Amino acid sequence: METMGSLRRTNYCGEVSMANVGQQMTVCGSIARARDKGGIIFADLRDTTGILQLVFDEDTPREVFAKAESLKSEYVVICRGLLRERAAKTNKIATGDVELYVSELRILSEAQTPPFEIRDEVNVNDDLRLRYRYLDLRRPSMHEPIVLRSKIMQIIRNYFCENHFTEIETPTLIKSTPEGARDYLVPSRVQPGHFYALPQSPQLYKQILMLSGFDRYFQIARCYRDEELRANRQPEFTQVDEELSFVDENDIMTLNEGLLKRLWKEILHVDIETPFPRMPWDEAMGRYGSDKPDTRFGLEIVDVTDIFDGTGFKPFAAVLEAGGTIRAINARGLADKLTRKHIDKLGEVAKTYGAKGLAFSRLTADGTASSFEKFLTEEEKAALYQALDARTGDVLLLVSDANWVKACTALGQVRLEIGRKYGLIDPDQFNFLWVVDFPLFEYSETEGRWMAMHHPFTMPKAEDIDKVESDPGACHAVAYDIVLNGEEMGGGSIRINDPALQDRMFKALGFTEEKARASFGFLMDAYKYGAPPHGGMAYGLDRMLMLMLKRDSIRDVIAFPKVQNAGEPMTGAPDVVDDQQLKDLSIALTLPE
Ligand code: AMO
Repeated sequence: METMGSLRRTNYCGEVSMANVGQQMTVCGSIARARDKGGIIFADLRDTTGILQLVFDEDTPREVFAKAESLKSEYVVICRGLLRERAAKTNKIATGDVELYVSELRILSEAQTPPFEIRDEVNVNDDLRLRYRYLDLRRPSMHEPIVLRSKIMQIIRNYFCENHFTEIETPTLIKSTPEGARDYLVPSRVQPGHFYALPQSPQLYKQILMLSGFDRYFQIARCYRDEELRANRQPEFTQVDEELSFVDENDIMTLNEGLLKRLWKEILHVDIETPFPRMPWDEAMGRYGSDKPDTRFGLEIVDVTDIFDGTGFKPFAAVLEAGGTIRAINARGLADKLTRKHIDKLGEVAKTYGAKGLAFSRLTADGTASSFEKFLTEEEKAALYQALDARTGDVLLLVSDANWVKACTALGQVRLEIGRKYGLIDPDQFNFLWVVDFPLFEYSETEGRWMAMHHPFTMPKAEDIDKVESDPGACHAVAYDIVLNGEEMGGGSIRINDPALQDRMFKALGFTEEKARASFGFLMDAYKYGAPPHGGMAYGLDRMLMLMLKRDSIRDVIAFPKVQNAGEPMTGAPDVVDDQQLKDLSIALTLPE
């Protein structure tokens, strides 16, 4: 193995171009691929910016050529040579017009054959990739998102700093407060039996910072939530977190549209149109069956409840009796594709989301196949067809349920499944949307009480303040989510800055005075010393990147993500610890059988 000696990098591989032809330069990196053509050797050199072709031939000094013959994939080298125009140009790589004719080569590290090929086109099992994440991250398609992530964070920082924000770090060993997801806990050694929680978000600290007079705060903050992992969810993730004083929700939305506009322009060279549409939560649920509607395609949900007033069809009648709703979509022109088998699968989707079933009518040229039409009167049928503008070739799908949210959600998921499966979604579109006016509370059957839909510090809409105790289900919040292509990219709210109202909220949420004091006493005390009106929001940075770069999972934009069992396969975290470590923490384990 050699050392770099006096060689020092003068250029990065991906940054050279025709403009550099004729220059002597030194580059370094790993060999992506070496091809010995007998008498002439080509090697692709890869660094963090891209790939540059190296060439060695009969005019190359003999000892250099001999070394080049020994080059294998993933060897780490530094080399010096003359940049020249390439005879056989390629547009497969950004530097495909040029090559480096090498006169000096040093092999700095040899490499074993990796467990999978380090290039994009190979299909590698996820577990293997994550166990060898350092190799996986060498692949250009895995490398680029991490580099872009850094650029994006820089743009975000610049934008906030230009707009009078102060970047402030908040603690990550904090007090556990109920509400929200399950906490990750950290035992205290110094105070046996006491635990810190890792923050689910910096929410309380950022509000306190507003009370401390910082006016505008931002932080790129690591957050921790012990919840089921999904493609858009990690136990450990990053928020772009912000809080502003003396603003209303419109100020916050406008400022954030500016940020997104800049990001999309600078990273993707795409002009996005602002302001984004705003849709009240009730409408989003009603029309799309989702609080994060994908508006890149239609297939909207239609309320057909009234049509079945006094119906003889028992299941619908029972739902109406219970004050429920009947919702329908028209899968326009999909009768050929949506066969019985496919409809059954859609029925399973609806059931997963709590519906009792999915009623259907397939209107083919050969006649109608329907699970329910024979129970309807002619008038009901005609009214349904009219409401859905039903024509031959369509498939009508209906969900009825006593619970409005459940009916809408189940049909919304059916809508999404159809949209995805039958190519109704344009993958090149970026549809931004603010969903506003969320319910303030949602009722938890398991807890048997009202819970804060967002968090307990969210300001009720002015017209609902009087109803916080008397009719919690009818109250809406000054809360907004930013939705992109059917994903919740971020969300926030205006906060309560009146201690008396905060008190009422805690009561409405079923907190006893002692519990409210024990959990949030510090915040309630702080409010007594003068609190500016304030509000804010947080983006999931990982989700933002996933959507921007059109990746299927946030894992692809996180250097060292966790897998399904919340483990990190490369290092093997979480792991058992020494008995002595447990003793120091006064912890005795009672493991499940
Ligand atoms: P919220 O809980 O909606 O709001 O979180 C804000 C955004 O964070 C992202 N996110 C996640 N990303 C990856 N993995 C997860 N497990 C995960 N959970 C959430 C989402 C989400 O929109 N303090 C408030 C914000 C505020 O009111 O200012 C909060 O945390 O993109």
